[in-house]
Amino acid sequence: MSDDVRPGPTEWGTAPGVGPWPGPLPDDPRYDPDLLRDGDTRNVVDAYRYWTREAIIADIDTRRHPLHIAIENFGNDANIGTVVRTANAFAVDTVHIVGRRRWNRRGAMVTDRYQRLRHHDTTDGLLAFAAESGLDVVAVDNVPGAVRLEDTRLPRNCLLIFGQEGPGITVDAQRGAIKTVSIAQFGSTRSVNAAVAAGIAMHAWIATHADTSQAW
Ligand SMILES: C[S@@+](CC[C@H](N)C(=O)[O-])C[C@H]1O[C@@H](n2cnc3c(N)ncnc32)[C@H](O)[C@@H]1O
Repeated sequence: MSDDVRPGPTEWGTAPGVGPWPGPLPDDPRYDPDLLRDGDTRNVVDAYRYWTREAIIADIDTRRHPLHIAIENFGNDANIGTVVRTANAFAVDTVHIVGRRRWNRRGAMVTDRYQRLRHHDTTDGLLAFAAESGLDVVAVDNVPGAVRLEDTRLPRNCLLIFGQEGPGITVDAQRGAIKTVSIAQFGSTRSVNAAVAAGIAMHAWIATHADTSQAW
């Protein structure tokens, strides 16, 4: 396949993937021989078509942002998969799950295979990790004392902590944060879905700190 007919870097227009590699097989070690032979229908951008999972992870690892995301999972939060998928899309460094280890992977759409994940039993454990790693902790919830996300600047080396449906962010997370930020709302609902809030806040960080000339 010549460069001028190869699909572009995004997944649009080529779903559900590509067939077997046409012509002589390349010997680039990033390519997976099975995918070259059978085709590649994975949920990956076209730039990564036929690449091994390890090669994809290694490539993203060179470009991860100094943004960490944490979600509290003391109940059983169904939003975590969606948070992981969004974190993957933004090349977040690591998604931290606090509390229960088990979470529903369905919303992740297999993106968890390419995303660094880390578990912490307690919020204190997460906060200790942030301190060791030089991350400024920002809690995200619309609670009294929060400043508006729209009116504040997120730190560059940043850990954003989100609460779960129902109880919201814990007091421990708020106490450990340099600030709590809220997303401005205008309707009747008390809150937006936690995964939606995570997407909005992650994108606020991206809009402030990321080099969008390097995006797909
Ligand atoms: C559904 S909310 C539950 C708590 C919420 N404070 C309430 O009173 O309904 C779950 C999580 O989503 C995030 N969230 C939802 N709406 C938000 C908003 N307007 N601003 C900031 N975070 C929000 C927070 O992380 C929150 O802990």
